Amino acid sequence: MDQNSQEVKVILLGDVGVGKSNIAFRFTNDFFLEESEPTLNSNFMSKTFSYNGTTSEFKIWDTAGNEKFRSMTSLYFKRAKVALIVFDITRKDTFYGITSWIKQLNDNAPSDILIALVGNKTDLVDQEQLSMDEIAAFAKDNAHFFSMVSAKDGSGIEGLFQKIVLERQMIDLGIPPSEMEQSIKIKKKQFSELQKKRVAGQTPPCCP
Ligand code: GTP
Ligand code: MG
Repeated sequence: MDQNSQEVKVILLGDVGVGKSNIAFRFTNDFFLEESEPTLNSNFMSKTFSYNGTTSEFKIWDTAGNEKFRSMTSLYFKRAKVALIVFDITRKDTFYGITSWIKQLNDNAPSDILIALVGNKTDLVDQEQLSMDEIAAFAKDNAHFFSMVSAKDGSGIEGLFQKIVLERQMIDLGIPPSEMEQSIKIKKKQFSELQKKRVAGQTPPCCP
């Protein structure tokens, strides 16, 4: 690592099949797997990325969405600078699933972690189950920002990591990030409403 570059540990979180591994593949190696295998425990990938006068050595931990690995996921939070919580825009249940990932971050991650919500599979926009307003309103209170991407056609991926560099710079300089109200703490009311919807039959297939 040269003198001007900085190491940025990123953790990829989100329910089964939302496309975490493919986002990492697309960003680090510019490829996409139509038939990717579910991740077991985690994968590690890295990439050097220069933007806005900064060179970032992204160290990406791609975790498993499967519930049975979830108790181990927090092990990857140590010294993490960025958490990307991925959901699939064609599966509303994966958007509701975000609340439990945020709770896990609140309980275990460094307090200055940058949290971004990432809506994946924008190439399937005709099957979209979520409105942009709904996503934006939730992100405003619970994350630093949100991005819409497609690991399949690559759109939004570079922009996502550019935004990470900028927002991370602001946190490191002590400037309050733009879209975040006060803290990453989830609003209790919103959390319980989403949990109720989850219990009322919209739970992803992974979760009992
Ligand atoms: P787990 O490792 O099981 O937690 O899943 P994951 O979140 O890593 O999902 P993965 O990247 O393995 O992708 C799951 C499926 O979605 C695969 O069939 C991918 O080809 C598909 N997929 C991923 N990203 C996209 C995308 O942007 N568009 C489309 N159309 N399919 C995608
Ligand atoms: Mg995976």
